[in-house]
Amino acid sequence: MKNGLEDVIAAETQLSDVDGEGGRLIIRGVSLDHLVADCSYEGVAALLLDGLMERSFDEAQLREWLAKARAGTFHHVEAADASILALPPVDAMRALIARLPDGEDFDTALSLLAAPAVFLPAVLRLQRGEKPIAPDVSLPQAADILRMLTGQLPTREQTAALDTYLVTISDHGLNASTFASRVIASTQAGLTSSVLAAVSALKGPLHGGAPGPVLDMLDSIGAAENAGRWLGEALDRGERLMGFGHRIYRVRDPRADALKGALRPLIASEQVDSTRGALAEAVEAAALAILKARKPDRPLDVNVEFYTALLLEALGFPRDAFTGVFAIGRTVGWLAHAREQALDGRLIRPGSVYIGPLPAAA
Ligand code: ACO
Repeated sequence: MKNGLEDVIAAETQLSDVDGEGGRLIIRGVSLDHLVADCSYEGVAALLLDGLMERSFDEAQLREWLAKARAGTFHHVEAADASILALPPVDAMRALIARLPDGEDFDTALSLLAAPAVFLPAVLRLQRGEKPIAPDVSLPQAADILRMLTGQLPTREQTAALDTYLVTISDHGLNASTFASRVIASTQAGLTSSVLAAVSALKGPLHGGAPGPVLDMLDSIGAAENAGRWLGEALDRGERLMGFGHRIYRVRDPRADALKGALRPLIASEQVDSTRGALAEAVEAAALAILKARKPDRPLDVNVEFYTALLLEALGFPRDAFTGVFAIGRTVGWLAHAREQALDGRLIRPGSVYIGPLPAAA
């Protein structure tokens, strides 16, 4: 048995490839650096879903339909009662997604692409006592998310930064949440069920729940000169350093650099405080040095969550909402994998080795 299914091949996919030794991510034949340079969120969504739905479409058509789908899902926000709003944002968002009908068709997929982008900003506003803002069908997804969050049109740099984030995290091989999505899809339960399972897997701190704790760590460290001591003490307590390490990457996660690059225009145009970025770079360097010294046999480098934390903070998302923003971007990957799995048609049902007592002994 392989603990954690490490190195076990559980699917063939045309969607993405994570090269852990080379530090490279390929999405449908395009490497991440090209996608980030050339492609919008709607472009990568069209690329991922191409050929997997009953309708074909291009980036421009998807942008238009997705904007209408955002408008069409907004009324579900009315269901966010006190019990839903008492939940952490990602759980409140998940509760609202659970209201969407299940299905395998393109309209269901569109609603699921739109829903988290509408529900998360609405939940955040309601939780701070503000009215939710309805979608604007003239805007692309990234700009509209920021507008629905703040009530103001975002700057060009802010829109570009969130768009890059959504592209960067759109798909990533058979990670835990994507595997969950495929398992559900293999039972033919429907795309809504797949996305709900995936969100549930994503929220754990070993997967998509790490970026909030990255900021907690930066706050606690406070200044660059404290980094080495603070990190050493955390490792002495047996803690893991959030934003470092990865099951597949043995080198730097390429998504970290894509996100660091997306932050630069915000810093250059003084839309965010550059001291945060300087502290993060110092902590990153100290963490890499101490991990190398303490875990010489396990190459541990920075992962996507470290610069996710800085980027989403710079865009004004509260840290308890970061996992929800991750879900907004990753939903397209979950949907594409769910469709790919459903088209394969084979139920996923692995075996297990029984190590309990035998009847006589029991
Ligand atoms: N800090 C300190 N030590 C670490 C870290 C870390 N961030 N990551 C791994 N290690 C250590 C483990 O303690 C273990 O040491 P040991 O052999 O002495 O017990 C060794 O490295 C190997 O660790 P594994 O558990 O085999 O690594 P695995 O592949 O299961 O874990 C994971 C990957 C969960 C991401 C891990 O690196 C981790 O917990 N990181 C911190 C949380 C984090 O950043 N999560 C976001 C991941 S990115 C994403 O999912 C979107």
